Order: sequence, then structure tokens, then C-alpha cells
Amino acid sequence: MSHHYIQFKDVHFSYSRGPEVLCGIDFRITHGEHVALLGLNGSGKSTLLLQINGLLMPTRGEVVIGDIPVTKKTLRIVRQTVGMVFQNSDDMLFMPTIGEDVGFGPRNMGLPEEEVKRRVDGALDAVGLSGLGDRPAFSLSGGQRRAAAIASVLSMEPDILVLDEPSANLDARARRQLIEILKKFRHTILLATHDTDMALELCQRSLVIEAGKIIGDAPTMSLAVAPESPAVSLFRTSEAPVFNPATN
Ligand SMILES: Nc1ncnc2c1ncn2[C@@H]1O[C@H](COP(=O)(O)OP(=O)(O)OP(=O)(O)O)[C@@H](O)[C@H]1O
Ligand SMILES: [Mg+2]
Repeated sequence: MSHHYIQFKDVHFSYSRGPEVLCGIDFRITHGEHVALLGLNGSGKSTLLLQINGLLMPTRGEVVIGDIPVTKKTLRIVRQTVGMVFQNSDDMLFMPTIGEDVGFGPRNMGLPEEEVKRRVDGALDAVGLSGLGDRPAFSLSGGQRRAAAIASVLSMEPDILVLDEPSANLDARARRQLIEILKKFRHTILLATHDTDMALELCQRSLVIEAGKIIGDAPTMSLAVAPESPAVSLFRTSEAPVFNPATN
């Protein structure tokens, strides 16, 4: 499975004729790493994540997922490899019930109904929603809907999980459940977050992005214990929560 890496090679991106939002991004995440993407509002986190499954394409440079360059031709295979939980994860639930939402991807892949059921049951169980498959999304709490969105990605059995601010708006219990779900995921995770304590607990490594450039790439704990480093001092002076290794 070592070929399931994420590599950005000098990736530049601008939204239509606007200024550059990603300005030469280079990094490689190897299989099984759990990595946090940290940065202030508007620094380019979501824009970066959306390049990974080709929802946005670089204006220059290249994104490679496990030896496969992300291009229009490879989108299908890339999206089977990469499961993406969006910043507005409620938008991912559009079927009459969450069971159908979670089964949508596997059904779309043409899997037999028996296998679809196995995956739906497994994914709902993994996120603590067993027995709720017949419920419509609107009848669930915000935390349960986030869990359902994650299940709809896990049912595709991805090798890489990409999540955009997964703990936003969750209460302490739902956040804890989310962390436990993600801890069990044995493959690669890249998650954008402002929740630095969650980053510290889940991710050995963090990338720090500022104005479309990676300005820090280090063990998360080293960011926590060396807050005077240039990459992190920017983060510390913001309104973002401060790393606190003592709470972990
Ligand atoms: N659809 C869009 N069209 C034009 N500009 C956009 C679009 N989406 C984002 N931007 C701009 O791109 C820059 C990076 O935005 P992005 O959403 O990637 O930041 P972010 O780090 O995810 O922020 P947040 O922490 O608020 O989610 C911002 O300047 C933003 O205004
Ligand atoms: Mg964002």
C-alpha cells in the first residue's frame, strides 16, 4: 500500500483570473501518515484540499496520488482512492435517508446489493450510527450528520481520507467521537483544522500554510513545544487556539 501517497509538485492555483491563492505548494505525504493542515482563515486550506480529488485543478504544477497524476482522465480512479469530507459536510447528504447516502458511492461503483449493505452497515457502525440508516439527515443532530458524512466516505473504503475542518461546530462529546473514529483509520489522513488540540492528538505531522505557501512542515509536537518558531508564531498571535500539550 506504500504507493498511496499524496504529492504536490510546485502547485499554483488562482480562481478565475484572480490573484494566486496557492503559490508553489510542495509536499509529500506517505501512506499511513496522519497530517494536519493548519492556517488562518483564507490561507488556502480548502483550495489546497480540493486539488487532491480534482475538484479544482492546478493552474501550474501537478498533484500525484499514488503514482497517478490527477487529471480529467484519472478523476474516477482518484476519487475511488481519496475520500473527501467537505467543509460544508451537510451538502454531502442529499438522499432520503442516511443509509441511502452511505450506500450511494458503493452503488454508483456497481457493487452487488449484498456488498453495498455490508459496507453501509460497516460504515454506520464505524461512526456510531448503527440502526439509524432509515433516518432522514434532517432528523439527526449536527454531530450525527457529520458522522453520517464521514460514513458516506468510509463506505467507499478509501486509501486516503481528506477532511476539511471536521471538528467545526461539534460539541465536546461529538468531537471526542470524531477523534476516536479517525484514530481507527489506518490509512493516510490529511485534515485541515483550526482545532490544534485535535491536530496534536491525531496527527504526528503538521503543515502550516500562510497566504498560499507552506511555511512550516514539522512534527506537530515540535510546533507545540517550539511556539517561537517562525511558522508557529504567526499562528500563535492569531485568534486561533494555542497548542496545549498538557491537555493531551
Ligand atoms: N470560489 C472562490 N472564488 C474566488 N476566490 C475564492 C473562492 N474560494 C476561496 N477563494 C479565495 O481563496 C483564498 C483561500 O480560500 P480558502 O477557502 O482556500 O481558505 P481556507 O484556508 O480554507 O479558509 P477557512 O479557514 O476560512 O476555511 C481566499 O482569499 C478566498 O477568498
Ligand atoms: Mg476552508
